[in-house]
Amino acid sequence: MDYPKRKLIMLPGPTNVPDRVMDAMIKPMINHRGETFTTLLKEVTEKSKHLFQTTESPLILSASGTGGVEAAVWNIVRPGDKVVVPVYGEFGSRLSEAVELAGGEAIRVTSEFGTVPSLDAVTEAIRRTANLKAVYLVHNETSTGCTVPYVEELGKVAAERGAFYVVDAISSLGGYAIPVDKWGVDVCVTGSQKCLAAPPGLSLLSMSKKAAEYVRKDPPRVRYFDLGRQLDFLAHGETPFTPAISLYYALDVALDMLIEEGLEKRVERHSRLAGRFYSVLDAMGLKAFADPRFRSNTVIAGLYPDGLDDKLFRKRMNEEHDIVIGAGFGAMKSKMFRIGNMGEVSTAHVNRTAAAMALTLTKSGHQVDLERLAAVLDASS
Ligand SMILES: Cc1ncc(COP(=O)(O)O)c(C=O)c1O
Repeated sequence: MDYPKRKLIMLPGPTNVPDRVMDAMIKPMINHRGETFTTLLKEVTEKSKHLFQTTESPLILSASGTGGVEAAVWNIVRPGDKVVVPVYGEFGSRLSEAVELAGGEAIRVTSEFGTVPSLDAVTEAIRRTANLKAVYLVHNETSTGCTVPYVEELGKVAAERGAFYVVDAISSLGGYAIPVDKWGVDVCVTGSQKCLAAPPGLSLLSMSKKAAEYVRKDPPRVRYFDLGRQLDFLAHGETPFTPAISLYYALDVALDMLIEEGLEKRVERHSRLAGRFYSVLDAMGLKAFADPRFRSNTVIAGLYPDGLDDKLFRKRMNEEHDIVIGAGFGAMKSKMFRIGNMGEVSTAHVNRTAAAMALTLTKSGHQVDLERLAAVLDASS
């Protein structure tokens, strides 16, 4: 096949990958049982501590985010275990199913899509469940563009009951900060292709001392994702199985870029640009799907005006403007678009996307107040 043309990738993952990160992958292949890989693994592990704000060593798995989530489930959940799972979109639903596949009993706390379950409702489910094993939370629901604002508080409630606290932060970590040690998160999972702006294919997973001790004492009945085994190999500078070496090179540089920018500044940039995106939607007369209290800084989910054809809209954005945006999920398919505000996103990216959307909407017969839009795009954020 021909190489695809470079587009502006405004998907909720994968995201645009800076050239510096892409270039890092064109390094010679090395022996994964040799010194060079050990050095690379140690460096990437150290840099990942910064991302999770932990003193423990995070694991880097050669697997997409789902692999990391599966590992986080199979290493903690045993048949018959009771697990509370807030479900407010597709990824929460998948998480609850993963708990059941591992033999656990998922106690779902649901809310209407576009909102998140209240902290009170989740707390109540936790307090009324005898012998609770764990709480599994999706921090940022990529399917609806909603974020849970109480990650820290929920950690305290889980700790009161001695339950493990596991957070899927695949589409948020790096765009949001989750200081796992401070907030009592036992396992936190993220993916390389979202806010880290690296290519897809790696999961990063933090583990508390408590979680590490547990998996060693009671190893899971899986091999590839046995996290105790992963930790034992990491201790002597290796991975149990052949790692995706080129992706490790990319992640190394992506983490350098995060550290150079500073996590705090990066989080502030995501928040500022999300604000710009929501103002853009408002100026164009489009509604965000998420309740304003839970609007995500990393996934901007918007509703199409009546009569607008999703496929045609995204096709025009792609073919006429070289901008790729995401479609809706499940029941919202064809009614919703999703824009990734992640990784190397900048004011210029937001402006270019907004201008192309305005032109595409106009071409599709929908009036856009260009003066209002121009006022938003002229603002300096
Ligand atoms: C919140 C969340 N969890 C899990 C996943 C699955 O990750 P992957 O597609 O990398 O396997 C995604 C992917 O978008 C996600 O957004």
